[in-house]
Amino acid sequence: MSHVMNTYARQPVAFMRGQGVWLWDEAGRKYLDALAGIAVNTLGHNHPRLVHALNEQIGRLIHSSNLFQIPLQEAAADRVAEITGLDEVFFCNSGLEANEAAIKVARKYGHDRGVNEPAIIVMEKAFHGRSLATLSAGGSRKVQAGFEPLVQGFVRVPLNDLDAVRQVAAHNKNVVAVFIEPIQGEGGINVARLEYLRGLKEICDRHDWLFISDEVQCGLGRTGKWFVYQHAGFQPDVVPLAKGLGSGVPVGACAVGGRARGVFKPGNHGSTFGGNPLAMCAVVTTLDTMKDEGLLANALKVGDAIRGGLAAALGALPGVIEVRGMGLMIGVELDRPCGEIVTLALAAGLVVNVTADNVIRILPSLVISETEGREVVERLVPVVKAFLAQGAAQPKTAAAR
Ligand SMILES: Cc1ncc(COP(=O)(O)O)c(C=O)c1O
Repeated sequence: MSHVMNTYARQPVAFMRGQGVWLWDEAGRKYLDALAGIAVNTLGHNHPRLVHALNEQIGRLIHSSNLFQIPLQEAAADRVAEITGLDEVFFCNSGLEANEAAIKVARKYGHDRGVNEPAIIVMEKAFHGRSLATLSAGGSRKVQAGFEPLVQGFVRVPLNDLDAVRQVAAHNKNVVAVFIEPIQGEGGINVARLEYLRGLKEICDRHDWLFISDEVQCGLGRTGKWFVYQHAGFQPDVVPLAKGLGSGVPVGACAVGGRARGVFKPGNHGSTFGGNPLAMCAVVTTLDTMKDEGLLANALKVGDAIRGGLAAALGALPGVIEVRGMGLMIGVELDRPCGEIVTLALAAGLVVNVTADNVIRILPSLVISETEGREVVERLVPVVKAFLAQGAAQPKTAAAR
């Protein structure tokens, strides 16, 4: 009997080694990794520059503590400030922690302005993590069920619906922030329209609300720019990050600027591990390597090719609702639950994921080559066709979702 707590439905495969976008299991079987540890392994597996830097750092100093100066944290914060366009960076260890920090910043911002019961506008189908505050901010009943009472102070609206936000603005004077994933990952690769994001920002500016852009999954170069809000052409006030930030070493960050600058004072927040030298070495090396290797441009080029290839091969098939996404964040929505695709893909030597029951999710490393991108399409298309040919489970229309 395993003593690991039974909180995950795991596939019966154990990866023992990786190189670039390739993984090998215990039996030596090779897989094309189109998931990158759920958008984590930015530089692929075993990137020589990251491995070398981490090895050196481990030999020098792993952890010291935030009671002391950490020069590598300063260096990492400079880089995060530069790419986000924001001013102050708090380092933590995961996405939910980055979002907890963002929620605390928003509440403190409200209290500082005399709002005693600050409320934050959040989106249907959102996922921000599994702590009590972040699961309460999220839009999944499945994630929340059994953990009530939920944390209060969130007002939920549908994605891409500015009128719904205007209605809340008209009736709720406690709102202090909007909290949004500009591309919902766990919710099924639901892309916020750029005009919608710009409209939302305008409403935030009009009411002095914070704009919080959860870029934990969609950010850090995956869409061809560092962050999705940069496609829309504005600066948010708060940007939570994690996943790809350390290319596999656990690290999160909450970057703030604009109206959120200076909200946290000494003593308002902290973390024992947050920003330690090992994690900061991973951040500095990941971001520098991304720049030096032109990985943002690569993400856009290969991502467009994969999405285009999948749309051409699958888009018109009965059973396929839509192929969508941006850069290397791609979803193929089917008209039926398709969790089985993960197992079928593994048998075909391909690692993908299914989210929101019926969306095949592709989130490769940013080092993926055009040839490897073509191979993702070549391996996935027959799997999807074979799955659909097995016949309908319960057909589901987009309108019924
Ligand atoms: C957009 C978003 N925010 C937050 C999280 C939570 O991150 P973590 O699992 O590191 O706590 C996730 C994880 O999937 C995410 O996709």
